[in-house]
Amino acid sequence: MIIDLRSDTVTQPTEEMKSYMMEAVLGDDVLGDDPTVIELEKKAAERFGKEAALFCPSGTMTNQIAIKVHTNAPGEVICSDLSHIYWYEGGGIAFNSGLSVRLIAGDRGRFTAEDVKKNINADDVHFPKTQLVSLENTCNKGGGCCWDQNEVNRISKLCKAEGIPLHLDGARMYNAIVAKGIDEKEFAAPYDSISLCLSKGLGCPVGSLLIGSNEFIYKARRVRKVMGGGMRQVGLLAAAGIYALEHNIDRLSDDHENAAKIADVLKDKSFVKSISPVETNILIFELNDDVKADDFIKSLADKDILAVGMGHQKIRFVTHLGIGDEEMEELLSVLASQ
Ligand SMILES: Cc1ncc(COP(=O)(O)O)c(C=O)c1O
Repeated sequence: MIIDLRSDTVTQPTEEMKSYMMEAVLGDDVLGDDPTVIELEKKAAERFGKEAALFCPSGTMTNQIAIKVHTNAPGEVICSDLSHIYWYEGGGIAFNSGLSVRLIAGDRGRFTAEDVKKNINADDVHFPKTQLVSLENTCNKGGGCCWDQNEVNRISKLCKAEGIPLHLDGARMYNAIVAKGIDEKEFAAPYDSISLCLSKGLGCPVGSLLIGSNEFIYKARRVRKVMGGGMRQVGLLAAAGIYALEHNIDRLSDDHENAAKIADVLKDKSFVKSISPVETNILIFELNDDVKADDFIKSLADKDILAVGMGHQKIRFVTHLGIGDEEMEELLSVLASQ
């Protein structure tokens, strides 16, 4: 049995999800007539109280499309110094949209409306015009932590007053929604656009949704096409998304409980220096200096437990629907014996 904690992207579609996919009615989504894609997009937009949605191949693409649509180079994006759009999208902000980035060093990926205010450039030809603020909830590199919705609302109010759109990289937003017990529409209200990944904790093999106004999604569809993200009989994959939205949300609390259980075992181990507070399904801990991260990862891999390093002696474990009772039992016993 392999216990794969590298990411929640490793989830395999369940038999039920696969059967649902096989029954999907298909069309040509580039021509706009795949009924299953239309159904998924409509359902997603409704859930979040927005007008429209667009099904895309990846979360990188939904984020990059959003940045492109909201901005017009030259200009600047404000985001956290831990954000995925800055670290892990291959420099796409510069490559696709020609923008500079203003990084805010906040609290594990979160910052305040005052931080945003300080980083909005004055209207002066020397400065790149601030054209977008982007948040990430939950924040991956911040250890799956959740934003305080009141602070998000304050940032949104400031952005509106300044005429700057607010985007959410909500790759794992359902983890935040479940952990905070917040209503989906209330959660989504502050944002002009949202990217939601179906291929992470929600368990789909592929796919992300970009959600926003009719006008925004109309423009996003053009950018998706030019990025090569138009897919044809893709209702097959959209069906997995419909299934996931109907079946795989409430169970995310199991993943959160499992991450907390792992942290509880790790906290007493001599090789652990510190553990980031566990709020959702991501657990980041730091090893003591006498244990090398690469050696630790290898020793786990020798016992069929897979994890990734996050630099600076940090290790990340991510729980997901592939980590059930059996996997947890084995994992906790291996960790306890380390
Ligand atoms: C916070 C966050 N945003 C965006 C993405 C990008 O998603 P994808 O791998 O589908 O491009 C990821 C992927 O891990 C992520 O963790």
